[in-house]
Amino acid sequence: MLQNFFVLSGEQIELAKDEIISISKSYDSNTEHESESRLVITKSNASFEKIVKRAAFVKVAGNISSVFDDVNKIELEIPRPDAFACRTINLSSKKVDGVALEREAGAILKKKWSSKVSLSNPSLTVYLILTDTKRYIGYSDMPVEPKRPEKIFKYPHELEWKLARCMVNLSSLREGQTLCDPFCGTGTILLEAESMGIHSVGIDFDEKMCNISEKNLVQNGYESRIINSSFDYIQKIKDDIDAVVTDVPYGTASRSSASPKKLIQDFISILPKKKRLVMVYKKGMDIDELGKAKKYEVYRHKSLTRVIAVR
Ligand SMILES: C[S@@+](CC[C@H](N)C(=O)[O-])C[C@H]1O[C@@H](n2cnc3c(N)ncnc32)[C@H](O)[C@@H]1O
Repeated sequence: MLQNFFVLSGEQIELAKDEIISISKSYDSNTEHESESRLVITKSNASFEKIVKRAAFVKVAGNISSVFDDVNKIELEIPRPDAFACRTINLSSKKVDGVALEREAGAILKKKWSSKVSLSNPSLTVYLILTDTKRYIGYSDMPVEPKRPEKIFKYPHELEWKLARCMVNLSSLREGQTLCDPFCGTGTILLEAESMGIHSVGIDFDEKMCNISEKNLVQNGYESRIINSSFDYIQKIKDDIDAVVTDVPYGTASRSSASPKKLIQDFISILPKKKRLVMVYKKGMDIDELGKAKKYEVYRHKSLTRVIAVR
């Protein structure tokens, strides 16, 4: 079983932790995890490479090799790299001379491996990760660079891509499964899903938004189905989808008389109960039907705090 580490970027910490855990569990339901500060450690058969390609809020990730007390006694039993660099990540509450630590570790590993030290182009980076309770040695030969879709057609009030991506990941879907966004707007959620190999179906009652979504998807070579209809069309395709991930309207649309809260109620009432729902809405529009959902608040600006609910 692999032990992986993920250092979070620092945005939306709770969401970010759960995102890592959801992705890991989608590949290995027996994934175990622990976290401290901005560090998440998983024990899982899912490799960190798979997870880091998807996660929205990860800064650095890799394998954990061991824990250490004394840097002079570090052990790293992996094949010799051509060139390596050591990096300190201090997540503890104490000040640490990170450069000195990197130099000490670097000297020991250079002797052991007879490899070059290259800070600009290492084939392997060794991480010395310090928290208040432990010191870990981790390593990675892969930069954190998720494959991102291009979005050429934009529109006001679209969802930020990181939230959209994180929401797709909280649905615990894997490549080849299908999600539906029944309020798809410009297609932000659909694009993020497709970029991770998850099929997507979009619905929007506004033809203009459907056209924008379609163009954004075609631009990236994705073949999602876009349906110009009201959200209740989802009942007709419920057997073809594995989860619903969506960003519901925040105000009353000009062509609809329903209040946003009523619209959410109507929407939830027709959803297939057994399928995972990840929904973002404006704080204050909570409805009883979402009582058991796990909720995360995301502050945007003083008049907009969003809630992401996962049910
Ligand atoms: C908050 S926006 C979604 C924005 C989208 N996440 C994005 O990033 O572009 C909500 C969308 O729901 C659509 N909409 C509103 N009422 C609807 C209904 N009854 N059925 C389907 N779509 C609806 C609107 O046209 C709008 O595009």
